[in-house]
Amino acid sequence: MAKNKITVVGAGNVGATTAFLAALKRLGQVVLVDIVKGLAEGKALDMAEASPIELSQQDLIGTTDWAATAGSDVVIITSGVPRKPGMSRDDLLATNAGIVRDVSRKVAEFSPHAAVIVVCNPLDAMVHVAAQVTGFPKNRVMGMAGALDAARFSYFLAAELGVSVEDVKCVLMGGHGDDMVPLPRFTTVSGVPIARLLPQDKIDRLIDRTRKGGIEIVNLLGYSAYYAPAAGAVKMAQAILQDTKNLICCCAWCERQYGVGGCFVGVPTLLGRGGVEKIVELDLDASEKTQFDASLGRVKELVTRVDQLLAS
Ligand code: NAI
Ligand code: 2OP
Repeated sequence: MAKNKITVVGAGNVGATTAFLAALKRLGQVVLVDIVKGLAEGKALDMAEASPIELSQQDLIGTTDWAATAGSDVVIITSGVPRKPGMSRDDLLATNAGIVRDVSRKVAEFSPHAAVIVVCNPLDAMVHVAAQVTGFPKNRVMGMAGALDAARFSYFLAAELGVSVEDVKCVLMGGHGDDMVPLPRFTTVSGVPIARLLPQDKIDRLIDRTRKGGIEIVNLLGYSAYYAPAAGAVKMAQAILQDTKNLICCCAWCERQYGVGGCFVGVPTLLGRGGVEKIVELDLDASEKTQFDASLGRVKELVTRVDQLLAS
């Protein structure tokens, strides 16, 4: 059987970490591509030199040449500017829309059958750009955000409760912004709803910390998070390449589901070889639905803005 091939676009913090994790997990051949000469080559060589220590034979190259990415099964797009303290994800719209448009053209040219996982911010609008430009079937274009936001919520809950992170299962919906919608009603510790384990004010505090999880890291580092984001992207790539059918919250195309009416937004999905194989529809209560609709409205505003920007 042919080896799986993964291209990671952007050899910055998220991209390089993604490439290294994908190689350590032996997901397949990894190609790291960046616009800056020497950057992807240097980082890939450094990673490959770790292989005798990790005892993981790494089939990994870095390049500026898109021809090397040809025939990828999964392409992870991390090329884009990250935010700095004082910036929101939305402030990155114009710059990253241009980068994602250019890169998506290359993806369509060199890997027409790939599943595409977008990481750049503002996430939901960038997934929209990648889908428009590649013209790929919508189940093959998605965004990584829910995996990260749910992981943050799970981590905070596990630490608060003193339980294993393995036992905490979270569901989280909406756009990747401060109005994301963590769903405590669907969040459990090995099947036990968290409302049985924590008082409401503690749950609310952890939800608030999750919503501000990105900026918490930006304020500490001066730049944005990358270990957990890379882990989220690799988990999605693994689900697709190994056809695991994991239920992962991600930014996916929704038509009738949740009354979205045609937009990429964060929802629980089943990921497998077909990309987004299913959108899982939960029975949201009135308050959850109101929060989701507000977040969706914000995503739709950004999509309109990005369409205007790219048309002008
Ligand atoms: P970074 O600045 O460390 O890396 C970006 C890389 O992209 C740079 O190496 C740059 O040379 C490269 N690049 C720019 N234009 C390119 C092009 N046309 N072709 C190929 N490479 C190109 O940024 P970082 O921290 O890796 O973040 C990347 C993006 O991911 C940002 O937009 C950030 O906001 C976003 N992000 C999203 C998260 C999420 O949950 N969805 C989490 C963390 C970051
Ligand atoms: C994060 O949530 C910046 O979107 C990125 O860390």
